[in-house]
Amino acid sequence: MGMRVPLIAGNWKMYKTREEALEFARRFKELYRDTDIRAAVIAPYTQLDVLVSAFKGSGVGVGAQNVHFEDEGAFTGEISVPMLKELGVDFCIVGHSERRQYFGETDETVNLKLKKLLRESDITPILCVGEVLAEREQGVQNEVVSGQLEKDLEGLTAEEAGRLVIAYEPVWAIGTGKTATPEQAEEMCAMIRNAVSEMFDEDTCDRVIIQYGGSVKPENATEIMNMDEIDGALVGGASLDPEKFMDIINF
Ligand code: 13P
Repeated sequence: MGMRVPLIAGNWKMYKTREEALEFARRFKELYRDTDIRAAVIAPYTQLDVLVSAFKGSGVGVGAQNVHFEDEGAFTGEISVPMLKELGVDFCIVGHSERRQYFGETDETVNLKLKKLLRESDITPILCVGEVLAEREQGVQNEVVSGQLEKDLEGLTAEEAGRLVIAYEPVWAIGTGKTATPEQAEEMCAMIRNAVSEMFDEDTCDRVIIQYGGSVKPENATEIMNMDEIDGALVGGASLDPEKFMDIINF
């Protein structure tokens, strides 16, 4: 794992009211004290401001789940990078499979969003890539993921690419209780690192944090986190409960 600091992030998706978010923060801060693994909570927009305040000084990062690539404009329902900067968030997910599947996210918009975040903010993008079940069954997962990376990272400099977190999230393992085997996850994370090395250079691929996501739970966190090429996890369902999320962090 070299110089990379592991990062375990919880993607809350469209869960938790403000009251529930604050209750989580209260409990999680107690549990997280004295932990050296980096952790972050990726929450709905409306909970970000109170979570940034609640986690201030605790070492727990806060992130958004999406962003628009323009600064402002007639884009009803969207949130821009300057708006996220103002809130003081540390991370922003880009290209989650649920956004690709249900909200028309494409590799082209992902690319614009990554450039905007990397060039105009200190917010660390968490880029999600991964194949669907039919692609895994046809054995084309490597081509699918390397194709996504080529388009998503197009035009980035090595310095910019080196600041990314990339989450490998096989779509068939999300919310299904079906985890990729540690070997499947490791193989793809190694492929991703290799693709980054080919697109940029050795140094950049050593820097990039690569996470696995898809039904990560306390019961399978150890074997996943112990893989060489996996630097962390992007956790959905199991991150909603502070005890469970902490059990994963303490893998
Ligand atoms: P689950 O952990 O609920 O499978 O979700 C994974 C995910 O999509 C995280 O972004």
